[in-house]
Amino acid sequence: MLIRIPEVLDAEQVAQARQLLESAEWVDGNVTSGHQARRAKHNMQIPQDHPAAQQVGDMILAALGRNPLFMSAALPLHVLPPLFNRYSGGQQFHTHVDNAIRQFPDSNRRIRTDLSATLFFYEPDEYDGGELCVEDTYGVQQVKLPAGHMVLYPATSLHHVTPVTRGTRLCSFFWIQSMIRDDGQRSLLFDLDLGLQRLNQDHPDHASAVQITGVYHNLLRQWAEM
Ligand code: NI
Repeated sequence: MLIRIPEVLDAEQVAQARQLLESAEWVDGNVTSGHQARRAKHNMQIPQDHPAAQQVGDMILAALGRNPLFMSAALPLHVLPPLFNRYSGGQQFHTHVDNAIRQFPDSNRRIRTDLSATLFFYEPDEYDGGELCVEDTYGVQQVKLPAGHMVLYPATSLHHVTPVTRGTRLCSFFWIQSMIRDDGQRSLLFDLDLGLQRLNQDHPDHASAVQITGVYHNLLRQWAEM
């Protein structure tokens, strides 16, 4: 399941984030890569402990905590601190799959990466190329979103970023361990939740809503891992 989450950050937050990130010192993106990614990856990153990365990262995490669509779609257990990358001058990231396990910076805590997230900071017309292409069972989905919007996709997917041939693509990327490990189960819960919200909106106090809410929570109880 690939989900676009609009307006995670508003225009003011995007402007503030861009200012902080643009003035940071960027380094070769391979500082965080494993062996296989090193040959595939051509971009720049901000070091994880850079104050700009931490400040904008905190802004993103706070916004996600208040975002009902993110909460419903991801059912997050742990979210890793956001990282930041930049592509320009033909840079790209060839097809790869993200590491299954990642460690929190400065601790031994590890998480399983169930979901990958990419949040865009520049408008699509500010650069050419830079599409995130995610392979799923329905074919390749190309994603290039407005500034402040985010895409959430299964970390199990093969994906790549096409060459940026004009301008700069600046994004945040990070991983989430979900309470629901399986993408199919998570998608079912998400659909059920959306259906319930619509039922409550169109037919407030409909008797079926209580029953269906019960089914949602009982499925969550059966499947959730904490
Ligand atoms: Ni990746």
